[in-house]
Amino acid sequence: MGRTFLVTGGAGFIGSNYAHYLQQHHPDYRMVIYDKLTYAGNLDNLKDILADHRSAFIQADICDAESVRQAIRQYGVDTIVNFAAESHVDRSILDAEAFIKTGVYGTYVLLEAAREFELRYHQVSTDEVYGDVPLGSSLETDPLCPNSPYSASKASGDLMVRAYHVTYGLNTTITRGSNTFGPYQYPEKVLPVFITNAIDDEALPMYGDGQQVRDWLYVMDHCSGIDLVVHRGLTGEAYNIGGDNERRNLDITLLILEMLGKPSRLIHFVQDRPGHDRRYSVDSRKLIDLGWQRSQDFVADLQTTLRWYSNNEWWWRKIKSGAYREYYQRQYGQRAVLGTYP
Ligand code: NAD
Ligand code: DAU
Repeated sequence: MGRTFLVTGGAGFIGSNYAHYLQQHHPDYRMVIYDKLTYAGNLDNLKDILADHRSAFIQADICDAESVRQAIRQYGVDTIVNFAAESHVDRSILDAEAFIKTGVYGTYVLLEAAREFELRYHQVSTDEVYGDVPLGSSLETDPLCPNSPYSASKASGDLMVRAYHVTYGLNTTITRGSNTFGPYQYPEKVLPVFITNAIDDEALPMYGDGQQVRDWLYVMDHCSGIDLVVHRGLTGEAYNIGGDNERRNLDITLLILEMLGKPSRLIHFVQDRPGHDRRYSVDSRKLIDLGWQRSQDFVADLQTTLRWYSNNEWWWRKIKSGAYREYYQRQYGQRAVLGTYP
């Protein structure tokens, strides 16, 4: 029998894709998915994983130290891969409390458990910790300069991981991934909001001038990068994971509309996000030197993603009702429309 992973936040977008990646690439591993099932956690993402006798699911909070310890003891966990976080910038602007609880205190709880049971610990972080990058690309050694409550909570988690490595010699690594897309992404992030709205011929709310730049990374490339670092990363180190695929929001939106055969007039320019970072860009050379290879075909990966949302309406229509509608109204209802795309 191989290793036993505790995958915290494994019912969310990237965590559930990582569970699929583990199932495929490490068939001798056991996997314990540990997730609070917040609005973003979804067992529909894990149907085939949960049917597999090598995996188990625990619904619990990473802030609950006793539940974390119990899971580690019960299953003989040797490695924690922590995806659990509140992950949406706009929600952090509306209310930051849960971000601080999970991202800061929850990370501390997991680190303490890793210390007590002498586990390998991996923290899934984000390129947003470097803040706005007008020119060039961030290196892992650059200062952390977060601008939103979300990215500040993630940077705090990174610093705590560093401190546990330096102070207690905990065997840690961190990855800082860029904007990720693919199947099972909750329709609050820009791509699934725009794809599902476009399918329904609804407006696409574009913040500000739409000239902000994000570096798009396919979810399976993100997962393979994380997995490589979990297995081969140097202890105490951080690794960037970028897509080498920087695009302006307006350009990627026009491409999606073209691929879906929908008109560009669906684009509505709306009031900007406060503190909106104009550009993220990471240098992934350190990970490439470790042996990482990413997909080189963004259009094919985007096509796969569009097809997935078109073929799995049952998945997102269930989500886009009830509490989601309330969130959507709160987030977009009061935003002034400044114009439409010609
Ligand atoms: P997500 O919101 O889809 O999933 C988060 C998961 O964590 C959910 O299943 C949720 O139920 C769970 N969770 C939240 N709070 C918890 C708690 N207190 N205890 C246990 N479980 C809890 O997020 P995602 O997009 O899959 O992101 C996963 C991780 O990757 C996050 O740490 C995020 O910061 C990071 N990240 C995301 C991106 C991206 O583009 N989505 C890019 C880089 C890094
Ligand atoms: O860079 C990695 C980060 O990417 C992750 O750490 C976060 O978890 C993830 O949410 C994402 O953060 P962003 O803020 O970049 O993603 P979001 O999808 O919210 O927005 C992407 C861009 O699109 C950003 O410039 C804001 C813009 N946007 C977003 C939404 C939701 C719009 O123009 N309209 C929208 O409705």
